[in-house]
Amino acid sequence: MTDAQRPGAGAWVPDSDDVDALREAAHACRGCELWRDATQVVFGDGDQSARLMLVGEQPGDKEDLAGEPFVGPAGRILQDALAAAGIGSDRVYLTNAVKHFRFQQRGKRRIHEKPQVAHITACHPWLEAEIRSVQPAVIVCLGATAARAVLGRDVRIGQERGMRQESGGRAVVVTAHPSAIVRMRDHDERERALAALVDDLRLAATEA
Ligand code: URA
Ligand code: SF4
Repeated sequence: MTDAQRPGAGAWVPDSDDVDALREAAHACRGCELWRDATQVVFGDGDQSARLMLVGEQPGDKEDLAGEPFVGPAGRILQDALAAAGIGSDRVYLTNAVKHFRFQQRGKRRIHEKPQVAHITACHPWLEAEIRSVQPAVIVCLGATAARAVLGRDVRIGQERGMRQESGGRAVVVTAHPSAIVRMRDHDERERALAALVDDLRLAATEA
């Protein structure tokens, strides 16, 4: 795919600080090819004046069908972790680095495919617009794709998770993606990973 075929979202982002107006406009986005096979755009949602913004990777199968972020299995883990960290889920703004579901069709199943850096770059104007609108004090990056979108560089989660960083004048905390926890079958490993996610969310909340 050439740059001309993947112009990026910029031309579709309205000059507005209202998240509802952004969400409405995102339905028309053709900034990359991912809109073609996905059901619909999945824009960010939540408290428009939240101090805490959580950024995931991209919508999954369930989110693509529902049109809302984090309503599937990873979302359940995230909601549990937020509750354990004492953060009201109505006080956060939830979004993703990429707004359309990228997948491979295998028979009837749609298998999640990681977005490429080109998709993260193409979709970045939407994330920028959300940050400009919500003005969060802290951004939590859930996984490497979110960290790449927010920090603009390659991030190894194992090396940078749970640290307070700064970017564009706001605090940034990188942590693991909850879908990694969904895939864990070993009970102890899963409990440890969940506890680490809760710790990182707590740290983020103290910055908020
Ligand atoms: N995983 C994500 O990164 N985002 C969602 O919205 C759902 C699952
Ligand atoms: Fe636009 Fe982002 Fe969807 Fe690509 S993934 S079409 S840039 S909203």
